[in-house]
Amino acid sequence: MDRPHKSGSYTGEFVDASRGRINRGIFTSQAIYEDELERVFARSWLFVGHESQIPDPGDFIQSRMGEESVIVNRDRAGKVRVMLNNCRHRGMRVCRYDSGNTRKFYCPFHGWVYSDTGGLIGVPKLKTGYHNELDRSKWGLIQARTASYYGYIFACWDEETPGFEDYLGDLRFYFDDFCELPDGSHDDWEAFGGVFKWRMKNNWKFSAENFAGDYYHNSSHASVDAVVLSPAGTKGRHTYDTVSKAREVYKLNICVTPDGHTSRGELFKDDYDYTPTYQDMAVVEDYFRDCFHKRRDKLGEKARWYGHGGTIFPNVSYSNGVQSMGVWHPVGPHETETWRIFLVPKSAPDEVKNVVRHYVIRYQGPSGLTEQDDLENWGSAHDGARGTIARRYDYHYGMGLGHEQKGWPVEWLGGDVYATEDVSEQNQRAFYARWAAVMDQPA
Ligand code: FES
Ligand code: FE
Repeated sequence: MDRPHKSGSYTGEFVDASRGRINRGIFTSQAIYEDELERVFARSWLFVGHESQIPDPGDFIQSRMGEESVIVNRDRAGKVRVMLNNCRHRGMRVCRYDSGNTRKFYCPFHGWVYSDTGGLIGVPKLKTGYHNELDRSKWGLIQARTASYYGYIFACWDEETPGFEDYLGDLRFYFDDFCELPDGSHDDWEAFGGVFKWRMKNNWKFSAENFAGDYYHNSSHASVDAVVLSPAGTKGRHTYDTVSKAREVYKLNICVTPDGHTSRGELFKDDYDYTPTYQDMAVVEDYFRDCFHKRRDKLGEKARWYGHGGTIFPNVSYSNGVQSMGVWHPVGPHETETWRIFLVPKSAPDEVKNVVRHYVIRYQGPSGLTEQDDLENWGSAHDGARGTIARRYDYHYGMGLGHEQKGWPVEWLGGDVYATEDVSEQNQRAFYARWAAVMDQPA
C-alpha cells in the first residue's frame, strides 16, 4: 500500500491524539517509511552504544542509526566518535567487525584508509592515478554529533536538533533514574555479553509504543508468570512482582510533552522498606537490600519513584530492573532489527552479576520468554494493519483520554509531564503526537 494520504498533514489526519485514533497506514506505507528515515531518524538523537563497550583508546563497535551502519569508537586521544561506516569512494563498509581495537579503518574494496579520527590518510595511486589532485582533507568519514550521558552514547546527524540534554527535556528525571546504580549513585555500569540482535516482522513503532506505555498486555505474558520467571521464585516475572502490593503503590504512566518521551513506573505511597526479591541467594539479597537503603538515604523523598522503563523518542526503549537498552532499528516498513544490550553495576560482586545475567536473558532478548511473547503480538498487530479491508479502519488509542493529570500525584514529578494512575494510552498518544509533528516538518 502506498501513502494513504490526502492533505499531507500527519497530525489530525493520520494521528488524531485528541480522539485517540490512528490510521493503520503509518505502519505499512513505503512512502511514509521513507519520509520517516529523513524526518525522524536523520534528525533525532539515537542510542548507539555504551562507553563500557569501548573502554580503551582504539576500541570500536559497529552500531546503527536508522538503516545505516556506523562506527562507534574511542580514538587514541580518548574521544568518543560516531562515524558513518561508509567509504567516501564507493560506499563500502570500512569496518567489517562487530567490535575490536584499531588505529585505522582500511576499506577492502580499493584500499582507502581512514584514521581513528575519521581522516582519510591513505589513497592508493594518489600520485599516478589521482595526480595529487585529490584533497584528502575533504574526504574523511562522515561524523555525527555525539553525546555521552552517564556513559550512554547517543548520536545525531542534524545540526539543527537541540543538544542531547535539551532533547531529553523533562525526561531527564526519569532517564537519570535509569542511569543510576541500584544504590542511587552514578558509578559505572558495564555492558556484558555482546549485543543481542534479532529481526521481527513488524513496523518499528509497534515496539517503541509498547515499551512507551503498554502496561495492560499482561494477558499475553500469562505463561511467563505461570512459570515464575522472577528471581524471587515466588510469583510473576518481574523483580518487583512480589513487593508491589506490600508497598501500596501508584502504578504510573508518565508522558513528557511535547517531546513524546515516556516513562513507566511506580510511586510508593507510604513508608516502605525492602521486600526480599532474591530469596535463597544471600549475597545477592544482601547486595540489593544494602543498595535499597543507600538509595533511600541518598534521595530521600524522591526515592519513592521506582522506574520500570520507557521510550526515548523515537526508537530507544530503556528497561529498569533488567537494565537494558533496546533499539528498534527500521528495516523497511514491515521489518525491525532489534539490538539490545544488558548492563550490570561494574562494582557488584560476581554472584550478583551472574544472577542478573541469568535472569535477564531468560526475560528479554531472543532467548527471553517475555520478549518472545511481545514479538508475536507485534507481528500479528502489524499483519492486522495490512489487510485490504482492515486497513480502512483506524486503531483505537483512547484509553484514559482526558484523565491525564499534570503535577500529580506529587509536585516533584513535575515539569511538563503528565501522569495517569494505573493504565492508560496517554503515553502512546504522546509518542504518536510527537511522531506526527516531526513528520509534518518540512523535508
Ligand atoms: Fe572504499 Fe573504493 S569503496 S576504496
Ligand atoms: Fe510485553
